[in-house]
Amino acid sequence: MDKVNAGVLKAKAGLRQFKDTQANVDYSSRSQEYGKHVKIYKEVALQVKTRNLFGKLSPDCIALDIACGEGDSATCFKEFEEKDGTVVAVKAPLVKRVEYFDNNQDMVRKGAERGQIEDEHVKFGDVKDGLDYPNSSFDYVMSRFFVHDLNPDQKSFFAYDARRILKPGGKFQVVEMIAGDRETQDFVSHQHAMKTKTTYRECWVPTEDEYVALFRAMGFTDIRTDRHFSYVDTMQWLLEKQITEERFNELNELFRQAIKNRPAVRDYFNLRESGKGSILVYYPLLLICGTKPEK
Ligand SMILES: C[S@@+](CC[C@H](N)C(=O)[O-])C[C@H]1O[C@@H](n2cnc3c(N)ncnc32)[C@H](O)[C@@H]1O
Repeated sequence: MDKVNAGVLKAKAGLRQFKDTQANVDYSSRSQEYGKHVKIYKEVALQVKTRNLFGKLSPDCIALDIACGEGDSATCFKEFEEKDGTVVAVKAPLVKRVEYFDNNQDMVRKGAERGQIEDEHVKFGDVKDGLDYPNSSFDYVMSRFFVHDLNPDQKSFFAYDARRILKPGGKFQVVEMIAGDRETQDFVSHQHAMKTKTTYRECWVPTEDEYVALFRAMGFTDIRTDRHFSYVDTMQWLLEKQITEERFNELNELFRQAIKNRPAVRDYFNLRESGKGSILVYYPLLLICGTKPEK
């Protein structure tokens, strides 16, 4: 755990305030063009990798998706159809039941409206307060694109709690962006902390070694990993209203400085100008799955 803490403390030290900048550009006409990107949330290749890392799914099993959002991550437990690389329809579950946990009712409602989440299988709560399920409830527990929001102690608490609610022999999988080394860790933790509409949030992006250490420290065995990439154009964040125009400019400037002055960061995230005033970023993703020992 020392390694995890040390890495994340370094990342925390990297959180710095950047000056706000203004821009007077009308981006509205670009929405259609950027809307064509296949979102990582709905990408078939990632779903298939997630499913494969769990191993052969059993129809008797019960799965839980923590920080489920609209339920896209848990489509790995269901059959789906794809169109142009995107999951378009979710059909029969490959497990007995999928349950969902999140703290945001709006996100979950959207998922229910899309037919992905069944209301009777949802619990609302904050992961930081503990998962309100009895011991040994699930065969599979997963969480995608959430754990970076937790600080080191919260990550440990979360992984320990996930292990508690798993049955012996059950599997826990996290899908997350990862850092390569201290420099990329400092950069991505800082950059992601800035990616909000309001004040900076907390963000702690471990390396693969740190994730493996965390899984081991929390008592998981048979730890297996896979990799994927999340491809992003910073314009998407603006058009999806994830960030303000001021923050868009701030983030682009941060990336431009890295392209110019930080070759390790530039290469790790394959940073490039889009040629349309935004930046293209490839986030390396880690899929990590561990088993709760039988005894
Ligand atoms: C980026 S979304 C990922 C959604 C989904 N896992 C996916 O991959 O499509 C992050 C989700 O984490 C949820 N979340 C954030 N903080 C949480 C917390 N403390 N407890 C429970 N859920 C949380 C948010 O509401 C949101 O639905």
